[in-house]
Amino acid sequence: MSILSVKNLVKTYKRRKTREILTAVDSISMNIDKGEIFALLGPNGAGKTTTIKAICGLLLPDSGVITVKGEDVVKHRSTALHHINAVLEGNRNLYYRLTPVENIIYFCGIRGEKITRKDAIALLEVFGITDRSDDLVQQLSRGMQQKAAIATTLATKAEVLLLDEPTLGLDVSSAIELRRLMKEIVSDHGRTILLSTHDMNLVEAVADRVAIMNKGRIVVCEKKEKLMKLFTARAYRIRLTQVSEGIMSLFASLEPRDIQKENGFVDFTVDLTNQEVLFELVERVRQSEARIESIEQEQVNFERIFLKYISDQ
Ligand SMILES: Nc1ncnc2c1ncn2[C@@H]1O[C@H](COP(=O)(O)OP(=O)(O)OP(=O)(O)O)[C@@H](O)[C@H]1O
Ligand SMILES: [Mg+2]
Repeated sequence: MSILSVKNLVKTYKRRKTREILTAVDSISMNIDKGEIFALLGPNGAGKTTTIKAICGLLLPDSGVITVKGEDVVKHRSTALHHINAVLEGNRNLYYRLTPVENIIYFCGIRGEKITRKDAIALLEVFGITDRSDDLVQQLSRGMQQKAAIATTLATKAEVLLLDEPTLGLDVSSAIELRRLMKEIVSDHGRTILLSTHDMNLVEAVADRVAIMNKGRIVVCEKKEKLMKLFTARAYRIRLTQVSEGIMSLFASLEPRDIQKENGFVDFTVDLTNQEVLFELVERVRQSEARIESIEQEQVNFERIFLKYISDQ
């Protein structure tokens, strides 16, 4: 059974001036299993943060049902929300007038959990901010605040963690450290993570499943491996030699991209939707002066998968 279930979630906002209704989340459904890292991807304004806020009870949905461990987030709010903890955009889950250590102790405390100062410091150490553990949060840099916010969420025993753009503002080594930590808390502590992000490297590194959102809807929801496989079989990098002027016009209908010309070679990439197209391409080269030097399957790139789904809409 899924630990987190979202069914036909709808959330609209009224625009301030025009009073026009904006549908931020347009009847989305998803089931997230225990122990899964589930990534929500999508362009700005797709509805990711709205979805996360509805799940953690910060927004009341217009309609739809959200349950955590079978408990309805609206009807059985406190029981359901006890299983959840979230890091939202802008680190709003921290008290700015407390230190990072105090925040950790406080937020565990209000959930009825105890954590020692030593353990709190150990968590901050993971992110390399122990030397700032006694400064007020308001005195820390944005990236340090983000680290403190994540550490505070990880410190609690909540089984489901919602992370809205967790790597935003983190430096490279902290982002890598966070990836390791996310995998660890899922594999060693059996927790579940729902994250929203624009960080394709993060998705590639940690996600089990990916949902791509656009304009309030989920356009695709698949296991990450499957999504990547779908694409890797289709993108080819082709190198031609003995090319004459205007050779590329032969391939215009295949929408070649990343075209490079140098030292008598032309390299380009095509997305092939079926085998026929590959044969057609070879045939066109055969009828020209050019020769194929190499055809290589392109390394899959998550960013491209993402853009493809968004542009198809
Ligand atoms: N409080 C609000 N009042 C009115 N409209 C809102 C409000 N919050 C969000 N919206 C609108 O809802 C839509 C979805 O916004 P949301 O913040 O959920 O997107 P997002 O996917 O998180 O985007 P981003 O990647 O930029 O964080 C946007 O059009 C946004 O302008
Ligand atoms: Mg957002």
